[in-house]
Amino acid sequence: MTASAPRPGAPPAELSARAAALREQLERASHEYHVLDRPTISDAEYDRLFRELQALEAEHPTLRTPDSPTQRVGAEPQSALPKHRHLVPMLSLGNAFTDEELAAWEERAVRLAGAAVRAAGYSAELKIDGAAVSLTYEGGVLAVGATRGNGTVGEVVTPNLRTIRDVPLRLRADGKVKPPAGVIEIRGEVYMNFSRFEQMNAERVKAGEPVFANPRNSAAGALRQLDPRITAQRPLRFFGYAVARPDGAPALPFRTQTELLEALAAWGVPVAPHRRRCETLAEVHEWAHEVERTTRAQLDFAIDGGVVKVDALALQAELGDVGREPRWAVARKFAPDIAESTLLDIQVNVGRTGSINPFAMLEPVEIGGATVKLATLHNFALIADKDLRVGDRVQVKRAGEVIPQVIGPIPEKRDPAHPPAPYAPPTACPSCGTALVAGEDRGMLYCPNFQCPARQLEALVHFASRAAMDIRGLSYARIEQLLQAGLVRDAASLYDLTAAQLTALERFADKSAENLVQAIADSRAQPLSRLIFALGIDYVGEIAARLLARHFGTMDRLAAATEADILAVRGIGDVIAHSAFRWFSDPQAQILIERLRERGLTLEEPHAASGTTFAGMTFVITGTLPTLSRDQATALVEQHGGRVTSSVSKKTSVVVAGEEAGGKLERARELGVLVIDEAELRRRAEGGAP
Ligand code: IVH
Repeated sequence: MTASAPRPGAPPAELSARAAALREQLERASHEYHVLDRPTISDAEYDRLFRELQALEAEHPTLRTPDSPTQRVGAEPQSALPKHRHLVPMLSLGNAFTDEELAAWEERAVRLAGAAVRAAGYSAELKIDGAAVSLTYEGGVLAVGATRGNGTVGEVVTPNLRTIRDVPLRLRADGKVKPPAGVIEIRGEVYMNFSRFEQMNAERVKAGEPVFANPRNSAAGALRQLDPRITAQRPLRFFGYAVARPDGAPALPFRTQTELLEALAAWGVPVAPHRRRCETLAEVHEWAHEVERTTRAQLDFAIDGGVVKVDALALQAELGDVGREPRWAVARKFAPDIAESTLLDIQVNVGRTGSINPFAMLEPVEIGGATVKLATLHNFALIADKDLRVGDRVQVKRAGEVIPQVIGPIPEKRDPAHPPAPYAPPTACPSCGTALVAGEDRGMLYCPNFQCPARQLEALVHFASRAAMDIRGLSYARIEQLLQAGLVRDAASLYDLTAAQLTALERFADKSAENLVQAIADSRAQPLSRLIFALGIDYVGEIAARLLARHFGTMDRLAAATEADILAVRGIGDVIAHSAFRWFSDPQAQILIERLRERGLTLEEPHAASGTTFAGMTFVITGTLPTLSRDQATALVEQHGGRVTSSVSKKTSVVVAGEEAGGKLERARELGVLVIDEAELRRRAEGGAP
């Protein structure tokens, strides 16, 4: 660990120069990677430079300039999930909103590849509105499943994808076209059926858990769960629509997208219904209209249009890609469902972190078969940018199945004599009256009062939720009831509740009161990592909570840590470090922790600094590992008591080598040091045998 506590005094000139050089190098690498799609340095090298800059900035905070790549909040997914580099990038699609735009797409293809495009015909498919994934099969067996990620690198979620019954664990080989013997990536979409989605939400309401906004978000969230048992509880499904092969692999025995889809189906991969092989573009238009007008309403899953692909694979290769979009395929989007309504009011609710969330109350209007009365407004900057005023006629959109959104006002419809007044954001919390403060994100307002009743309700709901303290029976409605009755005021007071107090309330039978008191008492045994997550600190999700618990081992050590100490935890970026540090600095937080301690909650992590599997061993990590970044591999070794150094010597116990491991690997071989790969490292870490 390179970062240490801040030292007084200005940084020496050579450090400023080094920081500037790192900033420049990282920004260039990021541009080459994300914008030009031409990476010049490996992920591991990028991570190393990034860490070096972070460490410098932690040591000398004046070096942290606003344009530092470390200040790019949320640009790169922060995740504890290992990474997977897709064989071929997962592309996006250009859009055609009308028949004319689709015709223009065909014309361009014909210009580039000739009349053969028209002769080849098209594959018209539903555009499934889910989460794109890539399934790697080796010798017909599912080896890796990954999310799309940024298109080039995704996150490995194999155990989660295995829980989906639609995803074959082994491709069937009993048809005419056999699955290839080598590696193949099958691309497709994970989605949820509406019927099952609604059923799941109804169950969540009953259990007092927050509902999901739409099937797509819910599917994407379920995929990235760290615990596959949670994924298994979500009704996920899968449709395949494309394949990718390694460079130089023998060609697959099909000539068209249509044949490819048939082969997928024969291998046991579900393929979306209502696809059509179209001989002409006129047929594609007809298909699209039919899907938009009739098919769509009959489907039990969300689509956001159709996808039209040049059917001949040879022509696809000839047409190629431009930027991140193929020229040989296009999304045929349907007109979004838009309606007009009147903005009756702008109201706000208070989230658990104190965020003030504005939403629109609308005159009820029917859009795409549903009655819409509420729409999100995201934040106050959006309201100001659109100049939305209460009383305005507004356009409302329900795109796909997402929560309705206010597109904007129709200013022409304002009465020029009596235009509505511009909207003024609230200045005080609607729940407790405390003056609101501006957040770091533009347009966000927060209630800073730790004891705000609205915050408390949301905070307690989060505290009791399944991923946090998992207190069964403590539903949203129950918590509201307890707050109203004045029986609880913070998370700690839950542990003082007695069955007698509960049975005195409405709707509480003796048995359920006893069960709830027991469930609350049982939750005291939850490990520190869950408790940290349960505290509801801004940006501290389940993963960050686990990293913090493991690193610091006890609540007291975490609470006493400086921002630099927290930033030095592998996997914790500066946004989380800042937020956690600020949270623990609040005297109210310290009181809460004391109160939790008095009630016997677990303030230690049982597996902190955990394993001793690698105790006394020195590791060197070299080359690019298939899924773990350098930092993650180091964290894995350290979690099990090992040490990671940078050069190979006779004292090195193990070298973990990935792709393009160079001199260090050779040196290890010369010295007869044990060389293992990532899979073996994981096996040893998990299995416990060095
Ligand atoms: S083809 C290179 N086919 O739409 C072509 N994509 O907006 C891209 N999608 O990332 C993949 N249904 O996640 C294809 N039948 C389908 C699709 C489909 C849904 C998604 C896919 C892609 C996104 C692009």
